[in-house]
Amino acid sequence: MSQIQTQFIKNVLAGTETQLSEKGSAFAPANIALSKYWGKRNAELNLPATSSLSVSLGDLGTKTEIRVAAEDSVFLNGEAMGSETLFYKRTVDFLKLFPMVGAHFEVRTQNSIPTAAGLASSASGFAALVLALNDLAGWGLGRRMLSLIARLGSGSAARSVYSGFVQWYAGTDDDGSDSYAERIDAEWPELRVGILEVSNVHKPVGSREGMNRTVATSELYNSWPAQADADLEAIRLSIREKDFPMLGKTAEHNALSMHATMLAAWPPLIYLQPESLEIIHTVQRLRGEGLELFLTIDAGPNIKLLFLESVASDVIAAFPDLRIIQPFG
Ligand code: DP6
Repeated sequence: MSQIQTQFIKNVLAGTETQLSEKGSAFAPANIALSKYWGKRNAELNLPATSSLSVSLGDLGTKTEIRVAAEDSVFLNGEAMGSETLFYKRTVDFLKLFPMVGAHFEVRTQNSIPTAAGLASSASGFAALVLALNDLAGWGLGRRMLSLIARLGSGSAARSVYSGFVQWYAGTDDDGSDSYAERIDAEWPELRVGILEVSNVHKPVGSREGMNRTVATSELYNSWPAQADADLEAIRLSIREKDFPMLGKTAEHNALSMHATMLAAWPPLIYLQPESLEIIHTVQRLRGEGLELFLTIDAGPNIKLLFLESVASDVIAAFPDLRIIQPFG
């Protein structure tokens, strides 16, 4: 928590009144970026180097309840988190930005996704926390404002305050007031996201440290912002025109290019496990055989497949353990 962050929150909340309820609660979906956020231009205000675009993961996400309390306590999936854990620290630090609501809080979080295994639990986590806080404090803020606040907790959380296709704008203002997310007015009921859980172990280097290291040490990062901008436009076009091969190809290329910038960091960031690579090769082989199947990967070993409902049975035949999500189900 810094003075700049405190001032930012004051600006966002200007004109709102806090009318406390006994409890606030909310759900926020996880999201998977089709065009990734990788790198910040301002770490304090969590301003990204580029815009990004995601699709939410249906009812996979985070449910959070929050109350004002005599002391801080944080529960994750029913278990009390120790004050030395990163989860506790990030939650409690973030809540210190809201003294107008309370000095201490009890937070109960239920995740239907593995925490910190590259399935963006910090995204749905901070989004649900901010939505629950808005409920507790009675601010009645709109989603755009809530995305600005969630962004401060975790960049990708700005996108998780909505469902469906969501764009998070990089913005241009130094004060961070125009770096918010917005829902894209489009549905794609046939779209499927398949989750292949390679490992649910805690990853050694989180996204935040990983992207900062990449920006600081990877020569390949120099070419990333221009590609990310072009990919985002291609994804937007593919959504508008319902061009699935264009969407899949752009998303996969974007994710693998992001991993290339990580590999070229020092010390190198290698999130992919042998099993992840095996899946990548299988997807390429199946595509060679004519199956319209693509993938995306975040800063972790898990693979998310992208395909249309019409080929679901072929995809399941190749990956029987697949967990299928209908983003517009
Ligand atoms: C690879 O949102 O976790 O998932 O803003 O530092 O909290 P912080 O980072 P975070 O990074 C997400 C990175 C990504 C790509 C994406 O979701 O766009």
